Amino acid sequence: MSNIHPDVDRMLFSAEEIEACLRAMGAEITAHYRDEPPVVICVLKGAVYVVSDLTRYIDADIELDFMVVSSYGSDTKTSGVVRIIKDLDMSIEGRHVLVIEDVIDSGLTLKYLLRNFAARGARSVEVAALFWKRGAQKIDIHARWIGFEIEDEYIVGYGLDYNQKYRNLPYVGVIKPKIIASHSSKECM
Ligand code: PRP
Repeated sequence: MSNIHPDVDRMLFSAEEIEACLRAMGAEITAHYRDEPPVVICVLKGAVYVVSDLTRYIDADIELDFMVVSSYGSDTKTSGVVRIIKDLDMSIEGRHVLVIEDVIDSGLTLKYLLRNFAARGARSVEVAALFWKRGAQKIDIHARWIGFEIEDEYIVGYGLDYNQKYRNLPYVGVIKPKIIASHSSKECM
């Protein structure tokens, strides 16, 4: 897939730029958890590629678990009402937890997760996200590791979807506005 997808307006980050960023992040995470490896939580589906690449750059005996959450909202915006579709398999009580996300937009999904993990008795909870949408957060939220700060544009690729498509693009790009417009016009409300 060397050519840019016809539905993508422009590439923001190449596969090589993403890899370099995650390598550096992995080294920092390795140093941070020198004494005790964390349970790494992958928030599916969007984070699947970030987690599979980033964890290979973490030189520690991490454990890996998965959650599937779904946020009610429109195609492009989260409402903040989060439903757990698949919960963790392991207990995180007394454990260091590292949540890996692809993107933090409104921050509402993450806020829900942080509260949820704290209630389960996690010893610490940190967040690593590949993308942070500048100025989009609706609440006060913090991520210890952020790959790239980006403008509040609709991005796809490397796990990020629009209408479940484009996740498998090896790069991240901005989707053409007409793709979103054409889909929205078919909706009743
Ligand atoms: C995306 C992304 C984050 C969340 C961020 O997931 O993976 O989990 O949105 O948005 P927020 O900061 O506004 O809450 P999405 O709900 O699109 O599901 P997906 O991971 O299955 O694509």
